[in-house]
Amino acid sequence: MLIALTSAKGSPGVTTGGLALALSWPRRVILAELDPAGGEVLAGYGRAQLPVGGLGELAFAARRGGLGQQLFAHLVRLDGAGRALLLPGLVEPGAARGIDWTRLAAALAGLDEQATDVLADCGRLRAERFPIPVLQRAAAVVLVTGSTLRAVHAAKLSIAELRTLLPETPAGGGALCALVVGPGEPYTAGEVGDALGMPVVGALPRDRKAAPVLSDGAPAGRLFAQSALLRAARTAAADLAEFAAARHDRLAATPQPTSASTAGSSRGR
Ligand SMILES: Nc1ncnc2c1ncn2[C@@H]1O[C@H](COP(=O)(O)OP(=O)(O)OP(=O)(O)O)[C@@H](O)[C@H]1O
Ligand SMILES: [Mg+2]
Repeated sequence: MLIALTSAKGSPGVTTGGLALALSWPRRVILAELDPAGGEVLAGYGRAQLPVGGLGELAFAARRGGLGQQLFAHLVRLDGAGRALLLPGLVEPGAARGIDWTRLAAALAGLDEQATDVLADCGRLRAERFPIPVLQRAAAVVLVTGSTLRAVHAAKLSIAELRTLLPETPAGGGALCALVVGPGEPYTAGEVGDALGMPVVGALPRDRKAAPVLSDGAPAGRLFAQSALLRAARTAAADLAEFAAARHDRLAATPQPTSASTAGSSRGR
């Protein structure tokens, strides 16, 4: 199943949170860096690893079809066991212009037969060339938000926009959920969920030691796996997988938008 992660203005943490979730995911998972502003995991967590494969090369190699079949050749491992894989994001400025998000969304949503889930880091909601079709195919659309009044205000505006983008299918509006970064700073995850009027599928604490390991490749240290961030990510991953699975079953029984209805839905036209 495909799960999309995005954020509103003023709530960083999508890439760090996505990585923490991918490393904690209960099944095999691909973290797909679809942020039109570019990928950052190889540079940060990968400690300046040279880009290999990735979204840009995949889109080029599969321009005449076979995107789903070629996908696995463009992934890199995030862990030793290869349970968590990365589709590295774009590296060239403006490369998002050449991506057919509708075709990519269909390929990513079609990985169920390979028992592989996809966590798609879609970046900020209002970005140019934002991958709207990926959200429209997703079993869950996760809005990453902080817990301050300013963050919740921005998240509310984003929800209104997200609701207009998501199709009125059983999974559509109901696919929306929130992941709170920094619960209790100052509002609790429950209070944020109430203010937003949607379910909170998880909360990741602000962890000034563990987060830079994921975002910037800081040395992990012996206790990284037991850090507050990774412990919370394991709970959030299990809960999000369950939330998405319930919607995924309903989505599978619903006709999908055709490429004609979504092909032009990239931003910045
Ligand atoms: N749970 C957390 N605890 C502490 N710091 C965090 C946490 N999540 C993210 N950060 C920090 O916030 C900064 C931005 O995080 P990240 O790159 O994940 O945001 P983003 O939403 O992907 O941003 P962008 O829109 O630029 O891609 C990083 O320095 C990261 O270490
Ligand atoms: Mg990011």
